[in-house]
Amino acid sequence: MRTHRIALYPGDGIGTEVLDATVMVLDAALAQAGGASLSYERFDWGMAHYDAHGRVAPDDFLETLRGFDAIFLGAVGWPARLPDHVTLAPLIRLRQAFDLYACVRPARTFPGVPHPLRSDQPIDVVVVRENSEGEYVDNGGFVGAGTPPEVAVQTAVHTRRGVERILRFSFELARTRRRRLTMITKSNAQRYAYVLWDRVLGELAPAYPDVATDKLHIDAATLELVRRPHTFDVIVGSNLFGDILSDLTGGVTGSLGLNPSANLNPERTAPSLFEPVHGSAPDIAGRGIANPTGAILSGAMMLEWLGETDTAASIRAAVERALASGPVTPDVGGTASGLEFAQSVVAHLAR
Ligand code: NAD
Ligand code: IPM
Ligand code: MN
Repeated sequence: MRTHRIALYPGDGIGTEVLDATVMVLDAALAQAGGASLSYERFDWGMAHYDAHGRVAPDDFLETLRGFDAIFLGAVGWPARLPDHVTLAPLIRLRQAFDLYACVRPARTFPGVPHPLRSDQPIDVVVVRENSEGEYVDNGGFVGAGTPPEVAVQTAVHTRRGVERILRFSFELARTRRRRLTMITKSNAQRYAYVLWDRVLGELAPAYPDVATDKLHIDAATLELVRRPHTFDVIVGSNLFGDILSDLTGGVTGSLGLNPSANLNPERTAPSLFEPVHGSAPDIAGRGIANPTGAILSGAMMLEWLGETDTAASIRAAVERALASGPVTPDVGGTASGLEFAQSVVAHLAR
């Protein structure tokens, strides 16, 4: 029996709810398939840890996580109680310290799930987000903090190595899909960082003649993702642009609660991290109504990464059937709880 060691980081708000639902589905799917199981260790970091210890995660949290085969995170953040830049620091730190440079965020429409656009053309996109540098580098400071002439400086860092590896990753991903790659920048206004992205794309594209490549500025991309989302396949962008676009692709496909993500270290020199795209949703936390689909599909991405490809596929198929037949959660037009939906996914596994 293969056993994969998983660190669970439920976090705050609905993070705990969607993580518990996911563990239930993963265990049921693996038990049904036979051959592999997951062993879990749970770390109650976030607001609960802050209340007890005055910090959201212990100082040695990176060393603690390094030995696992993968990390599964629910969601972090509770802005009414602690500023987000404090609560969320461990997540950004993890992505950078473990070199989880490829953040893969698929979004698709599902039969039976309503979405806000007029067109009924199915949407099936993947946002690939550079996850290790760019606008998220901890680089800046204040001069004259709190005074009227205060100055804040924050400098993004884009390296040729960083841009090149995420573009190569995206080209390779496009080759496994519909062979279209759209790169998002703002190189008409930001004359250094995104001009580097333009140059590197131009250098790499001839090596991938089988992939159709185009470029959009971030403002145009937000328009086109509403106007013609079905035409996109793989979308690649910097850390900040990938973050913004993956909430948008969640919105146009029906709910942010549907969208999974993988934060990958493709060279496997550290554990990769899997989490839904959404946050801790304080507006609905504690009511049991969070949609666990994004988390469950993140769990499927984790199984795939761990080599449990067939079980991952069976989970995806069960999620599709559960969404199509109901009951579903309120964000996608139903009245079910997240737990009821997860139980329905488990029931569909067996069919
Ligand atoms: P959010 O993603 O938590 O919620 C945005 C909206 O989508 C809310 O109306 C929420 O109810 C809804 N929503 C999100 N997930 C849902 C689900 N699974 N089912 C049904 N509805 C869902 O974004 P926010 O409200 O801007 O942020 C809340 C907190 O989460 C903040 O602290 C933010 O910084 C943090 N955050 C964390 C992560 C993460 O942990 N990876 C990601 C995004 C935001
Ligand atoms: C995400 C989130 C994070 C990000 C926050 C919580 C720091 O929005 O994972 O999409 O901006 O990367
Ligand atoms: Mn985000």
